[in-house]
Amino acid sequence: MGKNKAVIGTQWGDEGKGKIIDWLSEDADGIVRFQGANNAGHSAIITLEGITHSLKYNLIPSGYAHHGKWNLMAAGEMIDLAHLVKEQKLVFNELEGRVGELLLDLRACVTIPYHIGLDKANNAHIGTTNRGVGPAHEDRAGRRAIRILDFENPETLKQKIIENTLHANHLLLIGKNHVEQYDPNKVFDEVMEAYQKVKGFTKIIDGKRFLAERVNVDNQTVLFELSQGYMLDNILGTFPMVTSSRTIASEVTAGTGVYIELDNRIGVVKAYTTRVGNGHFTTELTDDIGRRIQEVGKEVGTTTGRTRRCGWVDLVPIYDGDITNKYTELNLTKLDVLTGIPTIKVCTAYELDGSKIEFIPPNLSDYERVKPVYIELPGWTQDITGVRDFDKLPQNAQRYVDKIENLVNIPIRYIGTGPERNDMIIRN
Ligand code: GDP
Ligand code: IMO
Ligand code: MG
Repeated sequence: MGKNKAVIGTQWGDEGKGKIIDWLSEDADGIVRFQGANNAGHSAIITLEGITHSLKYNLIPSGYAHHGKWNLMAAGEMIDLAHLVKEQKLVFNELEGRVGELLLDLRACVTIPYHIGLDKANNAHIGTTNRGVGPAHEDRAGRRAIRILDFENPETLKQKIIENTLHANHLLLIGKNHVEQYDPNKVFDEVMEAYQKVKGFTKIIDGKRFLAERVNVDNQTVLFELSQGYMLDNILGTFPMVTSSRTIASEVTAGTGVYIELDNRIGVVKAYTTRVGNGHFTTELTDDIGRRIQEVGKEVGTTTGRTRRCGWVDLVPIYDGDITNKYTELNLTKLDVLTGIPTIKVCTAYELDGSKIEFIPPNLSDYERVKPVYIELPGWTQDITGVRDFDKLPQNAQRYVDKIENLVNIPIRYIGTGPERNDMIIRN
């Protein structure tokens, strides 16, 4: 029987999902993205025949570097075709063609250039990735979105694009920031050209039927890769400072169309917290320690190049996300980045108006008033980069991991000790 695993961000994204997806892909038959868009930026660093390759994935599943595996971009993923062309070319060239198979569900909706304009015009206060994600999801909910299957009928597609461009132009006129109008014919030519290029390296299929057969008939092992993190979920996150898609494990079925029994729901937790974009951040450090974490952890956005805000690890999003995702185990990433900090703080609860709480208040104005309740743990000085055995970690690093494990009451099975594929401790 195949084993199905989902990898889920537990914080505000960028926890290191790409690395563990790439690592776990070794034992999977296929890897699936099924929500989010190219707002995601997932990194994997691998060494092949002595040469180190730094890979960035936005739309393509992070298992693509594994030759012989299939990688499905399922119905729920929002696809920017022009971006996909550039992304695939970069990875393909970097790996000299040693990549897996790429598949795209014909139900997937696409991001059109005017979505990017609309994002810039209206969403600056959120600090979005400006990838058109919000407006593209609005069009999907509004039932006017263009789907991959529409490209097989260019006449009808052109008509739809003209209508949608006029609709977008109208919204741009009343947008908060000025953004130029779009020419419908140019938009059509651009997306059609990108679609033709995508067909050169991606098989367009009925992803639901494909996946159902792999899982239910062939008993294959499938890895489900979420993007973003629990705190950015469109309903349960720190609304409205969130993304426009769902970022929770149960989206596996909604975004692929196939009922999936998940054997493992692996929550990815950075050993500290980062947030890119705007919004309240309870454990944020604006002092030298925050700057040090930012520098040592190279906390710069994979997608936008923005500096990520840094702070202490906050366990409240993990307690809260565990109610939704029921994590079977955790991957604690970037433990190596904390080396050299004399005293490390862990936020174990919030204080709100004199009461101690252990959940994310649904109202943003309450959330903005919570104060972190910290415990303090002694740090370590010995470099732990690349350590692969838990017993070889300094005592205080072991204590830090064990303390978090005890507080969240979820096994920490994987521990990241560096950015490269094999910089990982596995505990059984
Ligand atoms: P994702 O969006 O969750 O896939 O995470 P990103 O790729 O955006 O950001 C994680 C960053 O941390 C990337 O630059 C990774 O190469 C790096 N990284 C992942 N795990 C580790 C780790 O254990 N140690 C260190 N030092 N870097 C890591
Ligand atoms: P990965 O998959 C970190 C954030 C943006 C912004 C908010 C809304 O790499 O973890 P959007 O463009 O989605 O409308 O922006 O969400 N955001 C992310 N932050 N990692 C991501 O993805 C993110 N995807 C979106 O910075 O605050
Ligand atoms: Mg990222």
